[in-house]
Amino acid sequence: MRLFIAIELPNHYKEAVGKLRTPTIPGARWVAPEQIHLTLAFLGEVDEETSKRLITRLAKIKGAGFELCLTGTGCFPDRRRPRVVWVGVKPEPSLTQLAEMVRETVLACGIPQEERPFSPHLTIARLKIPASREVGVFLDQHTSLDLPPFPVKQFTLFQSKLSQQGAIHIPLRNFPLVKHESTK
Ligand code: 2AM
Repeated sequence: MRLFIAIELPNHYKEAVGKLRTPTIPGARWVAPEQIHLTLAFLGEVDEETSKRLITRLAKIKGAGFELCLTGTGCFPDRRRPRVVWVGVKPEPSLTQLAEMVRETVLACGIPQEERPFSPHLTIARLKIPASREVGVFLDQHTSLDLPPFPVKQFTLFQSKLSQQGAIHIPLRNFPLVKHESTK
């Protein structure tokens, strides 16, 4: 099974972020609004037994609930050669801690993780050709994007199934975060 761990957005946030889609960026493959998520960890192919151990360990994570603020846009790796266009996330210590706990858990199950630091973002488009000028215009138009915060009360283990229409994301299990004053 191809797995990843992510934070789901409320539906109206998926819709709001999905509305950024524009035909002005040539070769862009836009993520379907219902699939927009905040990746905490990408696991790749994981066998059945390892996935069971992983679920047991993920359930033991005692992360704090928090508020997430979606703000601004950007691209990876940089504006000269954009390959991924994203919506940004306001820095949030509880999110960083959660990503760190998830990473430790995944590593403890023997699933390798990339070395690069966690850089929270919501991928909204992937580019086949690096249309740097058009992406630059898009990013400049949305620098002040700022959606109201929403409470994050859980994280989710997803299966990604490849189909002819692209990847389908199937939520396998939700893991609650501990209640926090502002997310009750
Ligand atoms: P992204 O949010 O940075 O795009 C589900 O496929 C998620 O896992 C994607 O949204 C993507 O995160 C991440 N992902 C997919 N393939 C990956 C890979 N080969 N290496 C790292 N992350 C990957």
